[in-house]
Amino acid sequence: MAELEVPLSSKKKIALEKMCEQELGPNQDPQVMSAIWLDATGKPILFYFGQRVVDQGSGETLDLSEQYKGRTQKDLDSYMENNPKADIAHDGLNEKLCRIYQLAAQALCSDMAPNLRMDRTRHEGVNVMQYDAPAQSQTHDLAANDGEDIGVDDGMKNHPAYESDLSNSGVQEYERAGVVHLVHGWIQQGQPEKGLFISGDVSRSSSSLAATGSYYALTQDVADLLAAMFKVAFPDWYSRYREAFDAGVWIPNDTGPFLGRAIIYKLQGRLHRDRHDLGPSACFGVGSYIGGAMKIPQLNAKLAYQSGDVCIFFSSILYHKVDTYFPTTQSQEEKEQKITPGRIGSVFFFPKESYEVLKDKDSVFQLVRKR
Ligand SMILES: [Fe+2]
Repeated sequence: MAELEVPLSSKKKIALEKMCEQELGPNQDPQVMSAIWLDATGKPILFYFGQRVVDQGSGETLDLSEQYKGRTQKDLDSYMENNPKADIAHDGLNEKLCRIYQLAAQALCSDMAPNLRMDRTRHEGVNVMQYDAPAQSQTHDLAANDGEDIGVDDGMKNHPAYESDLSNSGVQEYERAGVVHLVHGWIQQGQPEKGLFISGDVSRSSSSLAATGSYYALTQDVADLLAAMFKVAFPDWYSRYREAFDAGVWIPNDTGPFLGRAIIYKLQGRLHRDRHDLGPSACFGVGSYIGGAMKIPQLNAKLAYQSGDVCIFFSSILYHKVDTYFPTTQSQEEKEQKITPGRIGSVFFFPKESYEVLKDKDSVFQLVRKR
């Protein structure tokens, strides 16, 4: 891994970006199968929790150049055709957990408008996601038959920065995209001596604090599962995070051990690495979308990274990019349930500087800090 930690020249970064478009572009089918990537010394640097044929794991170590062999969706489909009794397991978050997480994150970003990203380092494109929604239902048309152009956004009026207009076949809708950071303890920029502060998004208002607590409570099962995956994947890092988390946790509905979460709400991704994160981070996307593959050019890896697939990896060392995603058309049912399509990405991480403050503190640190 040491060779990966060396900062890259801008020329090399451009080469990685090119690789994302070419070798890892549309002609390369993504891998769908779960796998572990090792560094030159045999230490794991990336775990991909995707799909797996039950009892068929070979356990063999492949060269990076062979990583796609037998591991794409086509390969999986043809295997299942020839082995109809085989079972496929999904190693990531199941559909139910994905839906719960999607609802919790959507509610959070409704109460706490996500921050618009103007920089081009991590996220690309505009801060608005456009998607297609069904035309008005009959019931609604009846209700709106007073001739006014109202009700296009029926039931969705509480959504942040929500706009809509009529089109022939349905409705074009727009939703605000951006980032929310929930971190129990962060240093102020360049001022570690001042100690840790809860992230500004959480303390923005009383309703954002309440929304954060509610989001943590609703996503406890997801957090617990990610923690279990992390513990198996990187047991030493798990212990380090757990100890520091217990000293730094502020809102008790979060079960840890990651001190921070970034919710990347409906944004498109760019090639980057998370330089301020300590060790491995856990990342996943949920929602209704197509595309959104995870590309890690230093490993020549393109992963399907479908809703619920999880990557746990050294995101501060490995450059990564979530490929362009396209929101699916909102179904009538989703419209009625006020669920918007598109991709909600989440990164569970531990900030490097926060760890430095917390690593030798015991769990009463918070009590001392509050004085
Ligand atoms: Fe990242």
